[in-house]
Amino acid sequence: MKVAFGSDHAGIELKLFLMEHLKEKGYECTDYGNYDPNDRGDDYPLPGRLVAEAIAEGKEDRGVLICGTGLGISLAANKVPGIRAAVCSEPFTAKMSRCHNNCQIIAMGARVVGRELAAMIVDTFFENEFEGGRHAVRVDMISQIEKDYGKA
Ligand code: RB5
Repeated sequence: MKVAFGSDHAGIELKLFLMEHLKEKGYECTDYGNYDPNDRGDDYPLPGRLVAEAIAEGKEDRGVLICGTGLGISLAANKVPGIRAAVCSEPFTAKMSRCHNNCQIIAMGARVVGRELAAMIVDTFFENEFEGGRHAVRVDMISQIEKDYGKA
């Protein structure tokens, strides 16, 4: 599975840790930036957008996005039509984001979760699959909102 990673300056350290963690498990990991933890100009919308677009275009299967809280970078990713990015701070929500919401991207806050919890959260995200059925109907309703606003 191909996994795209992105972060702002606040998330670089945790992003690199999680990339190594998933590489060891056999995932094909690519870093879409940002790359310099001292660059305060590396705002979260760009990596959020790049990762979301790579998934929407079929170049990547899943994404992991990290900023200070996980909020800004997930908000940016969710602006790309067809993308569902979930901010998760514990494994239960990470599991449900796959099983019920069919999210392609998990976002976390480097100022919220520690390394070991973050690794547990991404493992849970990658170990679970969409259940479909009644949940597919609800996800389709989300897609319909994009269509109604001419964005899909
Ligand atoms: C950067 O200081 C911080 O605002 C950003 O990493 C993120 O938490 C925004 O949602």
